[in-house]
Amino acid sequence: MRDIETEADIAYFLDCFYARVRQDPDLGPIFNEVAQVDWPVHMPKIRAFWSGILLGTNTYQGQPMRPHFELAQKTPIRPAHFDRWLALFTQTLGECFAGERASEALLRAQSIAAVMQTRMHQIGLLVV
Ligand code: HEM
Repeated sequence: MRDIETEADIAYFLDCFYARVRQDPDLGPIFNEVAQVDWPVHMPKIRAFWSGILLGTNTYQGQPMRPHFELAQKTPIRPAHFDRWLALFTQTLGECFAGERASEALLRAQSIAAVMQTRMHQIGLLVV
């Protein structure tokens, strides 16, 4: 299996990942019904976010934490949701790519998920 090399690789992986997220019994309704995510708007942001991390491109301009705080004000978000998100991310990535960048993606996803949960917990927005 090869490593993530290009923006097209990132786009491919993210399409596979979010296709699973959307169909997941626990996460799907949060994205589709609560957040009512506009996917053609969301995907370019997510691609830019990960390209910045993995390929050093500098196109993501956003505040990655904010939508999650807003989401948690609309519906209960639990550590189990993050566990599921990370499980799908790990599974999808492992099926498509292997190598330094793939490992980096996994480490970053884990650490960002941990920071997100800590911040949400600190401001009373994580249901434990
Ligand atoms: C329980 C887990 C998670 C849920 C339910 C969730 C859900 C969401 C939702 C609903 C949005 C807003 C989409 C929109 O309408 O534009 C969003 C945006 C985003 N999420 Fe997550 N997310 C989760 C975990 C993560 C993690 C762990 C990361 C990073 C590793 C991440 C990265 C992002 C980024 C970069 C955005 C775009 C922010 C922007 O608008 O600039 N998410 N997420």
